[in-house]
Order: sequence, then C-alpha cells, then structure tokens
Amino acid sequence: MAAISSIILAAGQGTRMKSKLPKVLHPLLGRPMLQYTVDAAKQVGSSRTIVVVGFEGQQVIDTLGSELEYVWQKEQKGTGHAVMMARDILSTLAGDLLILYGDTPLLKAETIKALVDAKRGQQAMAAVLTTQLKNPAGFGRIIRDENGNIISIIEDKDATAAQKEFKEVNTGVYCFDIPHLLQALSEITPRNAQGEYYLTDVIKIFVQKGLKVTGFVTDAAEEVMGPNDRIQLANTENFLKQVINQKWMSRGVTIQDPLFTYIGPEVQIGQDTTIFPGTFLMGKTIIGENCTIGPHTRIVDSVIDEQTAIQFSQIIETHLGPGNNVGPYAYTRPGTVTAANVKIGDFVEIKNSQIGNKTKVPHLSYIGDSQVGAGVNIGCGTITCNYDGVHKYRTVIQDDAFIGSNTNLVAPVMVGEGATVGAGSTITKEVPAKSLAIARSKQEVRHGWRSPRDKMADESSKKS
Ligand code: UD1
Ligand code: CA
Repeated sequence: MAAISSIILAAGQGTRMKSKLPKVLHPLLGRPMLQYTVDAAKQVGSSRTIVVVGFEGQQVIDTLGSELEYVWQKEQKGTGHAVMMARDILSTLAGDLLILYGDTPLLKAETIKALVDAKRGQQAMAAVLTTQLKNPAGFGRIIRDENGNIISIIEDKDATAAQKEFKEVNTGVYCFDIPHLLQALSEITPRNAQGEYYLTDVIKIFVQKGLKVTGFVTDAAEEVMGPNDRIQLANTENFLKQVINQKWMSRGVTIQDPLFTYIGPEVQIGQDTTIFPGTFLMGKTIIGENCTIGPHTRIVDSVIDEQTAIQFSQIIETHLGPGNNVGPYAYTRPGTVTAANVKIGDFVEIKNSQIGNKTKVPHLSYIGDSQVGAGVNIGCGTITCNYDGVHKYRTVIQDDAFIGSNTNLVAPVMVGEGATVGAGSTITKEVPAKSLAIARSKQEVRHGWRSPRDKMADESSKKS
C-alpha cells in the first residue's frame, strides 16, 4: 500500500478564543487540541506528520515535541499558502498526503480512513471530505457538475447568491496525490475576495487538467466542527467527555455522574471499577478492576492496581498497589510507589518514596525520598526532613518499625527493622533494629506551682 503522510494546518491564532495561547494548544480533557488530530493521522497510518505553525509557533513545537516535523508560516496568506510552506519536504515524498486542521479534535480516524479509501478505490488524484449542513454559511461550497462530479469549491465570500444555497460544504479535510498537488499549488493565485491563496482552488485546477477528483460525504458533521471560541471549546470537551464516558460504561465501569467525570482519551479502566463525581483521570493513567475512585479525585499519569480506593485526593505520577486505601485529602507526587494493602490517610503527602505491604501512613504526614518497608506504622504528624535547602536526602524505615506520632526524621537517617521511635522525637541518628529511640526533652513536673494568674488573684484578695 502506498505511503500516507499528513500535513496539519495550525498557524492560525484563533482570534475568537481571545487568548495568548494558540487555539490548537487549548486543552481538551488534559490534551492539547492539536494532539487529537496528530493521533487520528497516526491511526490511519500516516508515517510523516508535518505541522504548519505560525502564531506562537514555538509554543506549539515545544508542546508537541520532536516526534513531528514543523514548518513555519510567518504570515497567514491562506490555506494554500500554508501547505506551500512544506514544499521542500513534500517534494521528497511519494504517495498520498492528508490535509487536516489542528482545530478539529473530533475528527475520527475512521472518517479519514474512509476518505483515503474513496480516493484509492476510485483511483482519484484528490478526495475531498464533504458534509451537508442546514446552515452552510461561512463554509466553502462544493460545486458539482450535472453528473455529480466535483468541479470546484467556492468560498462563502466568493459565492454567488445561487451558490450560497448549496448545502454541501468543504470540511477542509483532503487526501491528495503529492506531486500533482505541488504542481497545482504553484498555479494558484490570490485573486479572490479575501486576497488569499486558497487551497480549495487546486480542485478546479485538478479538474481542468483531467485529474480525477472525488468526494466522500460524511454525515458526522460534528466531527469537522472545530471550536472557535471558549463556549464552543467547552461544548467540544463535553462531547468528547461523553463519548469516552459512554465507552467505559459500556465496558463495565460504573460512572455515577458522567457529566461531572473527566476521563482523558489515553486512560484505561478495569471492569467493575466505580467512579464517583468530580473525578479527573488524565494522561496515561491506568486503573485496575474493582477500584473505587473519587469523589473529587484527580489522577494524572498514574497506575492504580485492582481493589484500591481513593477519595478526595490528588495522585500524580504514582503507582499504587492493589488494595490500597487512600485519602481523604492525600497528595501523592511523582515517584511514589506503594505495595499491596497500604493505607495513605488524610492530609498525607508522599513524594518519591516506596511504601511496603500493609504499611500505614494514616494521618497528617509528609514522607519524601523515603524507602519504607512492610508492616510499618507511621504515627500522626510524622514528617521526613529530607531537604537541607540544597540537597535532598533519603530516609529508610525497615519492616515492622513503629514511628510514634509527631516524629521528625532528619535525613539521611535509618530506622531498623522492628524498631520503635517514641512520639515527639526528632531522629537524627540511626535507630538500630528492635531498639527504642526517644529523642525529646524530658518532662519536668513542679509540684504546688502557682501561676501568675493565681498570684494576681492573691494580690487582689489582700487589697479588699
Ligand atoms: C476553510 C476552507 C473552506 C472550508 C473551511 C472548513 C479554504 C480557502 N477554505 O475555510 O472551504 O469550508 O475551511 O472549516 O481553504 N490556516 C493556516 N494558515 C493560513 C490560513 C489558515 O494555518 O494562512 C489554518 C487555520 O489555522 C485553520 C485552518 O487552516 O486551522 C483553516 O483556516 P480558516 O481560516 O479557518 O479557513 P476558512 O476560511 O474557515
Ligand atoms: Ca474556519
């Protein structure tokens, strides 16, 4: 099969977004809008993806990364001009070129595939994705001859009153034979109502040269509607969200309130997991079976094993083992890895630490840069002092140790297996296995002590 490459037009600002961020970088379910188009292109087998950047282009490049190729369009002189910016790359390529927009995140790979199949099936040199709209205003109209063949595309601003009545519109998605496209692009001019180089003009040129052009009409018009302002952005996200939530429900995940549950497109969720409202599952998160997640929980780029429960918490780049119980109000940060049946309770923060089987960190603790064994109990209010302002140091707590409440563990430090630390201790030296360490000032008791208040009461009783 011939190679497929794609070019994604993403140079526009998206003025109606009223944003310093280019439109294509506005996130939908935690991913930049443009990423959805890139993924769809990859899914149909595009081996090279070229992105045309302009407005805040460097931000686009920095966000999408070096996996893609970029060309600059400094001044936006039209969609045809945008494609011409990639001439040097395109002239080295053979096969088919998909032309896509960076602001149509709902466009499905299947729809693009159908367009490619239409082009190849009919041995056409160009295929245009079209759709019927009740209100086609603003779109380019598809002009067909008496035999139903596409002969040109007329932009709304250039259309005659009669042409404006046509309901079949250009979606802006095309599949072209590359050499013929480059030839036609070199022939277009900006002689039109907007003074732009219209990509749409190559269709007429193809037809004049006797190169076959075909159309593929999709009835999924919503797929090609890119959001133009923040209201449409919210609607688009809502649409994506519903599609994703319905997918997971159909696969055996309970979502109590699908309107208030946000699941990113790359997330995986196991059967019989329940998701409570206010939950955000983002990035490359994987949730196992029989978990309960939420309410009010945000999980990003994390793996949660089966039977784990998390409520009112924030879990970032963490791997939680099976049967864990987390929250309310826990915060696990990058590098947190827990074994089975771990408890991370209320107001606990864990960073870059490994926590062993059945260990409990039930309340009000900070555990950073630590290696905590199995069966450890960490008392309320315990913190690791892992940072001296310059360097970070590790704390090691071995199996079955018991850390009394309100302990400071000043790293680097180690608490041996089965050792006990007395409540309120500041531990700066190794605690050997099976020993007790108490590092707090001794309590003093003064019998018969009279407080200043008692003394004042004495004075006033003398005066009266
Ligand atoms: C274009 C089509 C129109 C079609 C419509 C579908 C042309 C001439 N017209 O119109 O037939 O119905 O899309 O949405 O192609 N862009 C650049 N550089 C430019 C101009 C545009 O990168 O110089 C990018 C924009 O960022 C955007 C996309 O191309 O993502 C489409 O541009 P836009 O100006 O929205 O095209 P329309 O005039 O709506
Ligand atoms: Ca547009």
